[in-house]
Amino acid sequence: MKTWLRELPKVELHLHIEGSLEPELMFSLAARNGVDLPYASVDEVRAAYDFSDLQSFLALYYQGMRVLRTEQDFHDLAMAYLGRAHEDGVVHVELSFDPQAHLSRGVELAVPFEGLRRAMRQAEREWGMTTALIMSFLRDREALEAMDVLERAAPWYEVIDAVGLDSAEVGNPPAKFAAVFERARELGIARVAHAGEEGPAAYISEALDVLDIRRIDHGVACLQDPQLVARLRETQIPLTVCPLSNMRLKVVDRMADHPLPAIIDQGVKVTLNSDDPAYFGGGVLDNYLACLDAFGWDREMFKRLAGNAIDVAFMPESRRSELLERLSRC
Ligand code: HPA
Ligand code: ZN
Repeated sequence: MKTWLRELPKVELHLHIEGSLEPELMFSLAARNGVDLPYASVDEVRAAYDFSDLQSFLALYYQGMRVLRTEQDFHDLAMAYLGRAHEDGVVHVELSFDPQAHLSRGVELAVPFEGLRRAMRQAEREWGMTTALIMSFLRDREALEAMDVLERAAPWYEVIDAVGLDSAEVGNPPAKFAAVFERARELGIARVAHAGEEGPAAYISEALDVLDIRRIDHGVACLQDPQLVARLRETQIPLTVCPLSNMRLKVVDRMADHPLPAIIDQGVKVTLNSDDPAYFGGGVLDNYLACLDAFGWDREMFKRLAGNAIDVAFMPESRRSELLERLSRC
């Protein structure tokens, strides 16, 4: 079954590329750029990854990414992750990145855009892997700043597949970003948003009502509201669920308590993703394997989840057909 899951053509829709920064690469980029780290060793970094909630993770996530300074750094970061994903049988990855977390450190927009794009092209050339790019806004900063970033990203509009919304959720409801997402809509850019990770089901409904999003990142709080569940079932707006992330950030205590099986039972469209693989214990395949362990799902279930991700990915229709055909042969 593990071999079969590795070979299943998997698509990843919810990945923060800065969250793929492994401690080894963190140290080598720190040395390359002369950045001081508050850790003496890779083991010390890993030992620090003992999170109590989203906020405690975000503090280390923003600290870790300070080593990313140049286009080459972003390129190397993305190539390292895409290479590991390729080994795990991932055939399409949608990379999200947080430009404000770099701009606030004096790293200009062109740096992540150009570095990531070069890695995305290289992954396609080397492995035939396809990719998409999601520019996310930090919801715990002012909406005007997000609007400014959206305007300044004009040279890259054609390479932005969607805008997203992430960082500290509670107290930063989707409606705060109504104008930014409306502007993205006017520009013809698709929208996704984190909602219902630590925040309530009401944030998921609000994201659907106000931000006009194509997908909900996380969304595991949806079961709190039966009307919302009915809406998700009827619209088939997908959730990009990240089981290992939810465990590590204490959204759930144990995998066995995860609401995923109940959400699927309700007819909601769900996909499996890694979120921040370097911080939460692995990539997409590890999330599939964790579900196998916890829920004992059969091949049909995993094929369904992998197919859901292909259905709702940002990719050309020809690629979608090709991957669905490959999946059907598994
Ligand atoms: N939630 C919100 N913001 C994030 C996350 C997450 O899991 N990872 C990186 N930014
Ligand atoms: Zn996320």
